[in-house]
Amino acid sequence: MNVNVAQDLVAQDRIAHDLSTAKSLDDYYAKLVPAHMGAGWNKSEPSLYPTPKKTFLPARWPYRTARVALDAAARLVGTQDAERRNLTLHNPLPGNTYGTAPTIVAAYQMIKGFEAARSHRHTPNAMRFILESGDRTYTIVDGKKLPMEEGDVLLTPNWCWHGHVNEGAANAYWVDFLDVPLTHLLGPVFFQRLDEGFVESAAEVAPDSPFRFPFAAWGAKAKTQAETRTGLREVVLGPPFLDSLRIKWRHLAANATFDEPQTTASCVYAVHSGTGTVTCDDHQFEWARGDVFVIPAWRSARWQAGGESYLLRVSDENLLEKLNWLHTAAPGSRMEDAGKRTGAF
Ligand SMILES: [Fe+2]
Repeated sequence: MNVNVAQDLVAQDRIAHDLSTAKSLDDYYAKLVPAHMGAGWNKSEPSLYPTPKKTFLPARWPYRTARVALDAAARLVGTQDAERRNLTLHNPLPGNTYGTAPTIVAAYQMIKGFEAARSHRHTPNAMRFILESGDRTYTIVDGKKLPMEEGDVLLTPNWCWHGHVNEGAANAYWVDFLDVPLTHLLGPVFFQRLDEGFVESAAEVAPDSPFRFPFAAWGAKAKTQAETRTGLREVVLGPPFLDSLRIKWRHLAANATFDEPQTTASCVYAVHSGTGTVTCDDHQFEWARGDVFVIPAWRSARWQAGGESYLLRVSDENLLEKLNWLHTAAPGSRMEDAGKRTGAF
C-alpha cells in the first residue's frame, strides 16, 4: 500500500474515534476541524437570509481627480510597460482591492497622442465609453479599426482581440467596464497577447461595426423613448448584447426627480453630460461629466437631476436574468409584481 494512503487511513481512523467519543457539542465542534467539516447548525454566520445583503457600498469617483491621476501616470509609465494605463475603481468595501461591484470592475484609461496599447484578448467581456479623444483614435477589434469618438460605446466581447491606437496628437480618455470579478469567481479566466507585432495591422476603418454605438444615434434614441419614471427615459444598447452586462443610455430631463427601488442587480453609471445628485441610503453624492458611480445590489436610490443629463448605465442584469435572480422583492411576491408593472428594471 502506498505510504500516503496508509497514513491517511490512520488519520481518518483517529478522527472517527475522536468524534465518536466527543463529550459535549463544543468538544465535537473542535474534533470536526481536522475532518474539514462544519456543523450546519453552528455556522458563525447564516448562509441563507430573507433578503440580499447590502455588502458593496454606494460610491463615486470624480473624473477631475481621475484625469489628473492618469496624466501623472502618463509621465511615469508607458503603455509598453503598463499593458493598459488604467485606474481600476475598487469599491470602498473594507478589504476589497478590485471590483467596483460584485460582478463588474470599472476603470478609467488613457493613451497619449501617437501611443498604442497592445492587442490582447481575454475571456472576460469588456466595453468602453469614450470621454475625450482627438481625431484618429481607434480600438482595433478582430482586425477592424473602430473610431473612438467622444460619447461612443465600444464592445469587445469574450475572446475578441482588441488593442487601442492613437494616431492623433491629443490624449484620449475613457471608462472601461468588464465582468472580470465574475470570471474570477467562476474561474474561466484566459488571457493571451498578440504574438506578432504590438497591435494588429489593420487597414480597414469600420465606423459601422456592430460593436460601436455612437452617441449621436443612441443618445437621440434614448431621448425619444417613453418615460419609465417622471423625467427618465432609457434605451438598451444592442444587438449585439454582452452575455453578462446590460448597457443602457439613460436620459434625464432637467430637474427630473424620482425614486428607484432596490433590485438584485448592481449598476455602474458614467456621466456623459449634465449634473445631479443621487442619494442612496445614507450615501449622497453629486455627479458631473465623466464621473463614475455605483449603486450596488439592493440599494434604493433617489435621483435629482440639475440640467438635462445623459448617463451610461452598465448593470449585471443580463446575467441575473439568465439565472432567474433578477428581482425587486422576494420572488413571486405581490411587491415584485408591482415592481414589474412600474418597469423597475
Ligand atoms: Fe482587454
